[in-house]
Amino acid sequence: METWACIRGRVAVRSFTDQEVPEEVVLRVLEAGRWAPSSKNSQPWHFIVVRDRATLQELSRLTQTGPYLANAPMAIVVAMIGAKFPEADAGRAIQNMVLAAWDQGLGTCWVANFEQEPTRRLLGLPGDAVVITAFPMGFPTAEVAGRGKRRKPLAEIASWERFGQHRPRSEPAATTESL
Ligand SMILES: Cc1cc2nc3c(=O)[nH]c(=O)nc-3n(C[C@H](O)[C@H](O)[C@H](O)COP(=O)(O)O)c2cc1C
Repeated sequence: METWACIRGRVAVRSFTDQEVPEEVVLRVLEAGRWAPSSKNSQPWHFIVVRDRATLQELSRLTQTGPYLANAPMAIVVAMIGAKFPEADAGRAIQNMVLAAWDQGLGTCWVANFEQEPTRRLLGLPGDAVVITAFPMGFPTAEVAGRGKRRKPLAEIASWERFGQHRPRSEPAATTESL
């Protein structure tokens, strides 16, 4: 898939078919995370592939915002260990994985807000690990295909040279929606 189409077309997917995710697809997604940049190339992440139904159900109970984890075919947990910028480094690896998944026809959704200690215990993670997400991954059900959230207009979130200053000598920056 072309890069822009992947970035622009991806949506959060919270409903999955029962179809198992092939191991080579999972490996490709993990590789995409592995190749993400990190502060000083420290690579302070650990990715845990979870397919076990009982563990997925337990994960869904350890956050208030990801009940659908319980029914997903699998999830990838991203934990940061000894990171100076845990959320920044994790964010880059997660976005790489999310886009690599989308590129292969799979849906994901970042789930946050995990109770840290019980999640570490569930997965055997060391005591200093920070659980950033467990994102479910699977083939989207038909209903979610083509859905997409609105975004703020570019003119509201970007400035030229100084905050609040509009793009010089140009038409209003409202054209990216149609790309
Ligand atoms: C840091 C972060 C945390 C998120 N946490 C959750 C979450 O706990 N549960 C959930 O259902 N979605 C979560 N999301 C998904 C966002 O709600 C979703 O990406 C956003 O509404 C935009 O929709 P889109 O991904 O379809 O473009 C999270 C996304 C990010 C980037």
